Amino acid sequence: MSTSAQRPATSAVVTGAASGIGRSVAEQLVDRGVAVSLVDLAPLDELALELTHRGGAVAAVRGDTGDRSTLRQAVDAAQALAPLTVAILNAGLLTGESDITKVEDRRFEQVVAANVAGVFRGVAEFIKAVGDGPGRVVVTSSSVGLVPAPHDPLYSMTKHAVIGFVRSLALNPELSRLRINAICPNGVDTPMLGESLKAGRALLSAGDVASRILEILASEETGQAWVCTPSKFEPFTFAPNPGYSFPTFAAVD
Ligand SMILES: NC(=O)c1ccc[n+]([C@@H]2O[C@H](COP(=O)([O-])OP(=O)(O)OC[C@H]3O[C@@H](n4cnc5c(N)ncnc54)[C@H](O)[C@@H]3O)[C@@H](O)[C@H]2O)c1
Repeated sequence: MSTSAQRPATSAVVTGAASGIGRSVAEQLVDRGVAVSLVDLAPLDELALELTHRGGAVAAVRGDTGDRSTLRQAVDAAQALAPLTVAILNAGLLTGESDITKVEDRRFEQVVAANVAGVFRGVAEFIKAVGDGPGRVVVTSSSVGLVPAPHDPLYSMTKHAVIGFVRSLALNPELSRLRINAICPNGVDTPMLGESLKAGRALLSAGDVASRILEILASEETGQAWVCTPSKFEPFTFAPNPGYSFPTFAAVD
């Protein structure tokens, strides 16, 4: 599905757009005149219609971000609307299990597909599509990409993984035209969190996180993992490199 009121100057791919943070990001981008290629496993037609009524230029790609073909389609759909400059790689899911011996292979593969493969393939397809042009990428990690999560070790593992990916890409001089960051929210009131995970804590709204993602897009920062709580929004300070050396890209600190 694709509609266009008037051709916007720029377009974005937003994964996990059917719900929560992704949906709010899509709404906020449309309100700023950015064309959006919406991606999700879940139905997107209703959202696409709503955004079109708001004057947005949108395309909807229903599929699994773990599949490269979904990301390729999403990037092509965005390019058809306007030059692609932004990717918000946000689709993700919890494992919901503290005991890793109980995580079936199928669940493992779903979680890794959404939280890791979708980010890797999304960034790779985005880089191919933008070529020598500028690009901005925000990956939705989590607070538990920065601190341990004994209640969901697999989820924490995947969210740590994407931060290492973002920080590594940001140091590649061949990708200096890109700005790539991760956002690490802590407790967002979306369908992902069950009532037990919502109880007794101050939660961010999906709109709060979406606004922070737009702030990151507007900044010149790259390679940062942004702490995002109701009272704090700042790049996380990592410990310095303890002295490891590498054969290439020497400026690792
Ligand atoms: N809710 C929180 O407290 C919280 C905190 C930190 C980080 N996050 C992260 O924020 C991101 C968005 O989550 P949310 O809170 O908006 O949850 P949500 O469940 O409301 O939205 C997630 C969306 O991702 C989609 N999705 C999941 N796997 C997919 C796949 N393989 N392919 C395509 N779409 C897929 C779902 O269908 C859903 O629409 C996730 O990456 C999540 O890990 C959430």
